[in-house]
Amino acid sequence: MSIGILTSGGDCPGLNAVIRGAVMKGDKIYEQEFAGIRDGWRGLIVDDVFSLPRRRVRGLSKEGGTILGTSRTHPYNGIDGVGGPDAIRAVMERHGMEGIIAIGGEGTLSGAARLAADGLPIVGVPKTIDNDLSGTDYTFGFDTAVSIATESIDRLRTTTEAHHRCMVVEVMGRHVGWIALHAGLASGAHAILIPEVSVTLEQITEWVLLTQARGRAPVVVVSEGFQLKNDKGELEDIAAERGLDAAGRPRLGGIGEALAPLIERSTGIETRAATLGHLQRGGVPTAYDRVLATRFGHAAIDAVMQRKWGQMVALSGIDIVTVPMAEATKELKTVPRKQWDEAAVLFG
Ligand code: F6P
Repeated sequence: MSIGILTSGGDCPGLNAVIRGAVMKGDKIYEQEFAGIRDGWRGLIVDDVFSLPRRRVRGLSKEGGTILGTSRTHPYNGIDGVGGPDAIRAVMERHGMEGIIAIGGEGTLSGAARLAADGLPIVGVPKTIDNDLSGTDYTFGFDTAVSIATESIDRLRTTTEAHHRCMVVEVMGRHVGWIALHAGLASGAHAILIPEVSVTLEQITEWVLLTQARGRAPVVVVSEGFQLKNDKGELEDIAAERGLDAAGRPRLGGIGEALAPLIERSTGIETRAATLGHLQRGGVPTAYDRVLATRFGHAAIDAVMQRKWGQMVALSGIDIVTVPMAEATKELKTVPRKQWDEAAVLFG
């Protein structure tokens, strides 16, 4: 009998460290065998599974990406009409899998919670660079993303200062502003714009002009999910600046590119935009993320051996605990207004 491991959703530095942690401890302490499932739920639906011995995970904690591959296949929507608990159970039985460790973000883990409620033996491991999963203080990948964003903003600042410009830096964060808040604070940004807080163009203009008046080159950090609103809290129509996606809708990302000309017009300061995008998810994880991911891997195999199906490993203070996956995926962990207010004291 073996334990299957899959990684699903957007990748994240530290995924390989979780896999290594689970396999190494599982092999050494529990003499457990493992199966790698390729490309998330896809591998469990189309039967793409391979043996994952301990020697295969050696040295992996510093590797970015995931040796298992990933996809956004939904376990219930499936592929070409095949999917759902029965299809997955059939593949598990064929490979003698008695449990699954599913490593993923909110989408993956809500699917995993539903499968567990339908009787499948699954333990979850939270991952996302966005740090927006409830039930855990931090997710691995976040520290790496913040470090990359901070270094990038530091670098952008020197060219911005040399040209007496304003720079708008767009970081990831589709629904929440954790990366923007932390990278913005770490790099001394003059404004941090996040999806959780309404800010008008007038307010941004004031911060940018105040910064310039002090002889500094303004740096504005914005989450990709930020939406510009007017003072009544209504959405500003900036679709034209933002550009359209392949389906003809205003792009979600692209807020940095859209804001730059608006700020240039309202302040008279030459303004450029830089979008960090997938750079924030690439390359080696930081030491912090390697440690957290390894601890999550250890805790995941412990949870499997204790048959804690439907539970997710999580960080609580300095301890690794387990929490119900269904609870953790009920709502996203957003930035509390108080934390943004504390940062905003330094804007302008
Ligand atoms: O959920 C993590 C995340 O990095 C988001 O911040 C971002 O919107 C999204 O993934 C990008 O996903 P993709 O790699 O599919 O473009």
